Amino acid sequence: MKKSLLVTVLVLSICGAGLFANGAGESLDIGLAMPETHVERWQKDGASLLEDAIAKGYNAEVTYGDADQSKQNQQIEDFITKGAKLLIVGSVNEGVGSVVADAASEGIDVIAYDRLITGSGDYDYYITFDNFKVGQFQGQGIVDALMLDKATDTKYITLFAGSPTDNNANFFFDGAMSILTPYIEKGVLEVVGPYPKTSADKANFTKIATENWKADIAKARMENLLNNDASGVVLDAVLAPNDTLARAIIEACSTDAKYDTTETLPVVTGQDGEVASVKYIRDGKQAMTVFKDTRSLAAAAIELADALLKGEEPMIAGARLDTSSYDTGKKVVKSYLLEPVMVTKDNYKEVFLDSGYYMADDLK
Ligand code: BGC
Repeated sequence: MKKSLLVTVLVLSICGAGLFANGAGESLDIGLAMPETHVERWQKDGASLLEDAIAKGYNAEVTYGDADQSKQNQQIEDFITKGAKLLIVGSVNEGVGSVVADAASEGIDVIAYDRLITGSGDYDYYITFDNFKVGQFQGQGIVDALMLDKATDTKYITLFAGSPTDNNANFFFDGAMSILTPYIEKGVLEVVGPYPKTSADKANFTKIATENWKADIAKARMENLLNNDASGVVLDAVLAPNDTLARAIIEACSTDAKYDTTETLPVVTGQDGEVASVKYIRDGKQAMTVFKDTRSLAAAAIELADALLKGEEPMIAGARLDTSSYDTGKKVVKSYLLEPVMVTKDNYKEVFLDSGYYMADDLK
């Protein structure tokens, strides 16, 4: 093999280990470990984090864990071997704790990204959106769409939650139930199927949770509900925790004669602003989503990383510092919270097109 070709092959194979490496051959500054790609947002998070880290002059690399914690742990161990000085980790589940402990023992800072790393006392910083508020928006989306403030008859709802291994799923659900519970108590809203009042009711929460946020699991559960618990009623709403699961639920409903037109579909919530769901909102198939601008979260995370690497006091523009709410079970970590935005048919254009998150062509 010619020498130049050999060098090219070597560089490509080094880069191939992660999705991108800046300045191959130099040691890594920041390792960016994202949990999965089956939920669209993480590819955007990964791309923005990489871009922002490089723009600040850091060598950075991003990996995706395919919702498999042992795979992500290997990716993080590789970052440590490559000399990473800081890790930004959107974890799959708390099984990441062992590699976070390894990082800590080598003096490497870890920032928990979007998802709290529970069960670990080996890191100090967490950056995310106000996840309780995300859930409140989902609850409010249902209240508004069903006009529950004026309702005199009973509306029927069934409940879904995110992954039982993702701490965010608790916040989303509890936020939503904080809005819905008064209507349930008043009798204008009735839960069909398992009914945890909060995520703390683990026996029932497990029944509505969706392992690893997998669409096929939510779809199968919705089909099952339609044929069993919900067979005798017409559902008015489904609390769905994100857009990926919302569309799976809508797909399941569409095959049932009771819900097979846009007008007869139940009100379904979501979050993330995935392009397919924004189109559903425009077309009246999905009621709402919650926009969490991954560009802002990535920029804020890299600002935080930059401050930590320089030994400076972090000042994160647009984020609220919360030093009391996020307890890993081992310690309360310093958390920076960004603001989510509620989106319906009324404002989807302003939110997604005016902000440049999507181009008009993306929504065709
Ligand atoms: C994130 C959501 C995402 C979900 C599934 C959560 O931790 O906050 O934005 O939809 O994971 O990937």
